[in-house]
Amino acid sequence: MDALKPQVLVARRAPAAVMDRLSARFGVDYHDGEAPLGTDALRERLQGKAGAYITGTERITAELLAACPDLRVVSTMSVGYNHIDLAACTARGVLVTNTPDVLTETTADFGFALLMATARRMSEGERLLRDGGWKSWSWDFLAGADIYNSTLGILGMGRIGQAIARRGRFGFGMNVVYHNRSRLPAETETELGARYVAKDELLRQADHLVLVLPYSAESHHCVAAAELALMKPTATLINIARGGIVDEDALAAALREQRIAAAGLDVFEGEPRVNPALLTLPNVVLTPHIASATMPTRLAMAGLAADNLIAALTGATPPTPLNPQVLPL
Ligand code: 8YV
Repeated sequence: MDALKPQVLVARRAPAAVMDRLSARFGVDYHDGEAPLGTDALRERLQGKAGAYITGTERITAELLAACPDLRVVSTMSVGYNHIDLAACTARGVLVTNTPDVLTETTADFGFALLMATARRMSEGERLLRDGGWKSWSWDFLAGADIYNSTLGILGMGRIGQAIARRGRFGFGMNVVYHNRSRLPAETETELGARYVAKDELLRQADHLVLVLPYSAESHHCVAAAELALMKPTATLINIARGGIVDEDALAAALREQRIAAAGLDVFEGEPRVNPALLTLPNVVLTPHIASATMPTRLAMAGLAADNLIAALTGATPPTPLNPQVLPL
């Protein structure tokens, strides 16, 4: 019976409601282990599968696609899709879908929380307190940087960047400057109270610089030693985009030598491995890629990924395709 249904691989543990919906329509091969499937296991489990429900931990490469000729849809439960070779998928007529919008506000909240924790030295303070290091008061005890009225720099002004800009402008009276591949329409800039500047200017002006741009060959290490050298010694750097955007060795050196004040990082180049140079520094807040991690948002992302897979394999139009030009399948 199941053999007549389209076969799909659910490559990571998913909410029960999503599994119910997928199992009602498809023959489902479910990898519910905590560790992601390796390249070989992924290739094997994708044999005979029309659909793949994946997350940011599964890499869909041109080689994998060549070895999985039945695959027609890759639905990722993530907004970022740098783990998928989109051009190779398009060339083979494989539809790719992602989960934009549903995580925008949650991720912006976290970006702002990380900015505040970093600028106000919250992790450092908590570590000191827990370690018994809180002995008395002094005028400069854990004195950090102001957020209210300071300059917020945003590199990458997509949906999440704009949501962070609103928080900064209207919640904290910040002066918002941004840089993006393409400038926003004038009315959007006015609505956000955000000013477009060249990348070098952004680095020079920002008291707090938030990275929210997509990761690609073009954005690889786009914040490295030369960029860090332009930043203020009092500045904080926040990365909630992808680890590879920042040269972590250069960042660790800048933090160690206090050429910038502090950094807040939710993403890492080799995650879940964290560059050891960062682990011992007091002036960096480290979180394990949790910017979208609220229960309502994760359920919404999982639900949208399922909507996309179901629509694509039942002849309907998927809500958020990345390469709609391959439709109809
Ligand atoms: C996820 C993310 O935690 O959506 C993204 O691009 O980076 C995060 O929200 C993760 O990638 C889920 O697959």
